[in-house]
Order: sequence, then structure tokens, then C-alpha cells
Amino acid sequence: MVDFAFLDSGTGGIPYLTYLLEKNSDASCVYIGDTANFPYGEKTHEEIVKCVLSITDRIIKSFNPRIIVIACNTMSVNTLDVLREVFPDTQFVGTVPAIKLAASVSKKRRIGLMATKATVENPYNIDLKNHFAADCELILRSDAELISFIERESFTATKEECVKAVLPAVNFFKEKGCDAMILGCTHFLNLRDLIQEVAGDELKVVDSKEGVVKRALSILNSLPDHKVEKGKPKLFVTWLSEKEKSEYDVICSRYNLEWGGMLN
Ligand code: DGL
Repeated sequence: MVDFAFLDSGTGGIPYLTYLLEKNSDASCVYIGDTANFPYGEKTHEEIVKCVLSITDRIIKSFNPRIIVIACNTMSVNTLDVLREVFPDTQFVGTVPAIKLAASVSKKRRIGLMATKATVENPYNIDLKNHFAADCELILRSDAELISFIERESFTATKEECVKAVLPAVNFFKEKGCDAMILGCTHFLNLRDLIQEVAGDELKVVDSKEGVVKRALSILNSLPDHKVEKGKPKLFVTWLSEKEKSEYDVICSRYNLEWGGMLN
């Protein structure tokens, strides 16, 4: 048994996992990237539900996690209610765009949401906006190209290459007059500091990391004590090309993870 399993389509959820360990280094965690189904953001709702139910079932059977953190906005906005219904004995924590946080920092009342196609098209955002940012203009941008760059190249790319990759999104939101920009796809958090650097002071970058980790740890604290496996978190994937293995070696050493290999 482990305390937490983190699930994303690839490397997006890793910054959430490392932040949780910063807050509680005793938590035992595994990380799963469902790379066989990457990118989730280009799938239909039905496809997303099918893939997430299948990988969640495998995760529960393999690791018996007390809590699963769906560290992926696309999976969360499409499947959280179904997951809770199908797996009632597992606790789920979702990741949704930090619209409330963006509204709290925006002076111009114009906020940008950068996410996958499946997330920006999901009505859940409209609910969040109406609830927490009713007086704000919400500007949407899906960016499959940047997500793919982050997943497949960013960890071994130069800083110049990373800057070039994030510039179109930053310029887009600046041109639209936004002063807050939500990282509504977890992949972007891998380049969070760089995106903020490129955006400068007039465009504040916000994400959901703080809220998600706080929620995950408060659920853990509410559960009775249990014996769990200890040690460095292992990173598993469901598909891997030869080229990507060297990318994962960099990721594991950067984030202090152990390579778990392919999930059986
Ligand atoms: N990291 C995922 C998210 O937060 C999406 C990446 C993908 O398209 O698979 O939405």
C-alpha cells in the first residue's frame, strides 16, 4: 500500500508530486504517466473516460493507493464524478484550472486560461468562472504544441528552445490584455518559472499546485494510520520509445525519482 498515486498522461503531474513531498516528506508515493494514451487533450469525452477508468483500475490493483491524485486537468474535468462512482473505496483529489486564484490577482479583470483542447471546451470552466470570476473576461487558449514539446523535448532542451516554445502563448495573452494567466494543464508547471520570467511582471502566472497539495494532505491526515511502503517515489509509464528513455533519466534525476519502468 502507498499513500498516494499521482496520475497524468505523462510528465505533467510531477511538479505536484514533488511539491507534496516538500510539504510532507514522509508520504509514500508512486507516479504513473499513461503515456500510451498521450495526449489526452485531443480525445473526446468518451475516450477520456474509457482510458482513465482503465488506468485507474490498473493503478488500484498494482499499488493499492489510499489516495489517487488526478494530476491532470483534462482527466479531472472529464472523469472525477465517474471515478468516485466506480471506485467508491478510493479517495480522489482532482486538479482543475485555478480560476478563483487568477480572479483574486487580476486587476484588469481579464484572465487567460491555457489548457488542452478538451479542457478549454469543457463546460466545467464556465461553472468555475461564473462561480469565482463572474466579473472577469476569461480568454481561452488550447496549446497542444507546447504540451507536446514539454512532454517530449523540454527536459533536454536548451533554455532558448524553451523560451521559443512558450513565447506564442505569453504573447497571445498579453495581446488580449490579460494580467493573469492560468496554467490549466499540469504539463506547463514543468516550465512555470520560465513562463513567469518570459511573461514579466505585468502578466502573473497562476496554477493549482498549492490548493491540490493542501487538499491531498488534509485527506491523508483524516485517514487512520496504516503501514505503507517507504522509499523514493517510483515513476512508471505505460508506453516508452527508446528516445524517451534518456528524457526520463533526466527527469528522474532532476526530480529525485526512481525509474519504475513500464507499468505491468
Ligand atoms: N497534463 C494534462 C492536463 O493537465 C494534459 C496533457 C495531455 O493532453 O495529455 O490537462
